[in-house]
Amino acid sequence: MSSQRVLNVGLIGGGKGAFIVHPHQKAIHFDGTRRVTCAALHPDPKVAMEEARNWPYPIRGYKSYDEMIAAEAEKPIGERVDYVLIVTPNDVHYDPALKCLRMGIPVFCEKPLTTTLDDAEKLALLAKGKKIPFGVAHTYLGHWSSRFARHIVRTGLIGEVRWVDAYYIQGWLFERTEDKGVMQAEWRVDPKRAGASGCGGDIGTHALMQLRYVTGLEVKRLSAHLRAFVSNRKLDDHFTVYAELSNGANALIRASQISIGHLNDLGIEVNGTKGTLRWRQEEPEKLVINLPGQPDRVYWRNAVTPNDGFLGDLPEDLMKEPTIPSGHGEAFHDAFARLHRCFEADVRAFQAGTYQGHDGSKYANVDDGVMGIAFIQAAVESSDSGGEWTDLDE
Ligand SMILES: NC(=O)c1ccc[n+]([C@@H]2O[C@H](COP(=O)([O-])OP(=O)(O)OC[C@H]3O[C@@H](n4cnc5c(N)ncnc54)[C@H](O)[C@@H]3O)[C@@H](O)[C@H]2O)c1
Repeated sequence: MSSQRVLNVGLIGGGKGAFIVHPHQKAIHFDGTRRVTCAALHPDPKVAMEEARNWPYPIRGYKSYDEMIAAEAEKPIGERVDYVLIVTPNDVHYDPALKCLRMGIPVFCEKPLTTTLDDAEKLALLAKGKKIPFGVAHTYLGHWSSRFARHIVRTGLIGEVRWVDAYYIQGWLFERTEDKGVMQAEWRVDPKRAGASGCGGDIGTHALMQLRYVTGLEVKRLSAHLRAFVSNRKLDDHFTVYAELSNGANALIRASQISIGHLNDLGIEVNGTKGTLRWRQEEPEKLVINLPGQPDRVYWRNAVTPNDGFLGDLPEDLMKEPTIPSGHGEAFHDAFARLHRCFEADVRAFQAGTYQGHDGSKYANVDDGVMGIAFIQAAVESSDSGGEWTDLDE
């Protein structure tokens, strides 16, 4: 362990029964090099302070994120937050992110980045203009097996990509869950809070990001069919996109929240000219390669050997990334921890004056966040016009 100062992280959102703050705060503490020191946990100032007092370890509570950003920015480095994590509903990403960037505070923000493309582009301009680290929490890129899949596809080991099936299938919104007091469902089905697409914005963006991360390809055009199966729902709960990719390949990028029996069934299958790669996040330690006329190759995290007849040399940073021996399972929390670990390195570089931007190889950067929103916007436009082929803005 290095003797470097432990970085201070501030939370925006996360009080009163919130969900995703908890995997994040565990991941922040994972390495002993980052810790949560302050938070604005709730929109109601009284509740925000109460929740901060009840937090499982001591933190500075703030009545609002405005108060937190202003007060923290006044403190000297070492006492102030080194970065802020935004874990509020989608409509409360843009404003706090913008205010942090204006104060020179790095931001790790939940996905989808914003509710409009305009807002996303403004954040990207500011973050890149001021060279401030900005990460978007596309969790599944943090699995070691996602890193490995990226290496395999991008180095051409399964040949030229012809077809990709990227999916994220859930079933928890198969009925009006939003009427049952489930706060996570309430805001997700509200266009003012979630954005222009429900299911697509919430989890279709994860499927898109997995495709982009693993293959390095971009969606050029798409034809989309979004549907709300559950009555009186304003936003899609089922999202199907047929896409043309930057190398001329095609892809299905699909998501659903009404598929009873599916939990967090995110996965990707890539068919190349020489072989197929398959990965599912519900079994994140394992990656399968199919080559013609050969038995399946099943690779387990941290149990791969370079130059084994299929793999060539393996990059040093990839071989260093696992945290525990194979067979002791890494999963969701480890993926989050890997993202925070990589973001921490950029925050330290930023403070040392050496940060030059992030290329998206270790976590989704602000441009990836913008691509997610551009994808959603194009999918909604296409679906509204009956599935018409729609170009993605550059
Ligand atoms: N990366 C992932 O795997 C993943 C998984 C789930 C959710 N998410 C994303 O994380 C975000 C939060 O989702 P969730 O399911 O945890 O939601 P949630 O409803 O469980 O929690 C939202 C939190 O934000 C707080 N909040 C709302 N407005 C606020 C304000 N103005 N100031 C301070 N706090 C405020 C709420 O009080 C609550 O604590 C969403 O953008 C969602 O898309 C990402």
